[in-house]
Amino acid sequence: MTGSYPATRLRRTRASAWSRALHRQTVLTPADLIWPLFVTGGSGVEEPIGSLPGVSRWSVDLIAQRAKEAAALGIPCLALFPNTQPELRSEDGREALNPDNLMCRAIRAIKDACGESIGVLTDVALDPYTSHGQDGLVDQAGYVLNDATVEVLIGQSLNQAAAGADVIAPSDMMDGRIGAIRDALEDAGHANVQIMSYAAKYASAFYGPFRDAVGSRGLLKGDKKTYQMDPANSDEALREVELDLLEGADSVMVKPGLPYLDIILKVKETFGVPVFAYQVSGEYAMIEAAVAAGAGERDALVLETLTAFKRAGCSGVLTYHAAHAARLLNG
Ligand code: PBG
Repeated sequence: MTGSYPATRLRRTRASAWSRALHRQTVLTPADLIWPLFVTGGSGVEEPIGSLPGVSRWSVDLIAQRAKEAAALGIPCLALFPNTQPELRSEDGREALNPDNLMCRAIRAIKDACGESIGVLTDVALDPYTSHGQDGLVDQAGYVLNDATVEVLIGQSLNQAAAGADVIAPSDMMDGRIGAIRDALEDAGHANVQIMSYAAKYASAFYGPFRDAVGSRGLLKGDKKTYQMDPANSDEALREVELDLLEGADSVMVKPGLPYLDIILKVKETFGVPVFAYQVSGEYAMIEAAVAAGAGERDALVLETLTAFKRAGCSGVLTYHAAHAARLLNG
């Protein structure tokens, strides 16, 4: 028992700004942010994305500028996603293995521009490269094949690591891929390349604008429910995380973010490992829609939601608001 009214007045410590600062349990800093960026072809190109107001695809040269900007803001890591030209997409997504694909060119440009001052995290999954928009190889019936896909993901990971990626982030949800990729990285001399596993990734309705951004929305037939998790489940999220940790993941991700804070908390309390959240495209778009509708203030919504992830136990958050949030936090 902590006593009773009037001896206990919880409003006492809230009465002034200095006291609120002193009692604040969770502090958000730019170092908590990972900035997802979309890469497109050409040079000097910025393509705004209609369903993600304020977010653009950038050509490789401009991506390098974004990276410098991020480093100057104190953002420690970028996450890259390519918008592959339609003619380079194929049934088997083989462009993912091309050492000169958009992703690899962007990694090299960022490393040339920024060196060790910023980390580069790369998405491993085939959806930006397949003509059917699924994250893996499909059979005649359209079922995404597990083991055959893992073989390609290994090649994709090695390709990204060779280009200089610091963190490999498999988002495909195939079984067994973390261990397979870890082994391949060790064998290829990439012992210090990290793996951040999209461990608990749900089959969510919040990914729509992202699929516009990487150009897979119109191609995708059906859904991803045979590999991404059922939003109704939480025990399974802990099993996914446990397996990925046993297979060698350095950190794990929960995705989407805000509707899954309970999962973040459970993962953190159960395993005590670095947990990241992905505040996904639909969550970003909802905030922007609320702002446009006059239903909320952007700055306050952004900082409150990002702080909530930290309070729930996250080490960091992937968010399209990263640069904006860092600017706010830097004052
Ligand atoms: C694909 C991938 C997706 C996202 C990140 N990697 C979409 C999907 O699974 O369909 C979504 C991110 C977002 O919505 O911001 N492997």
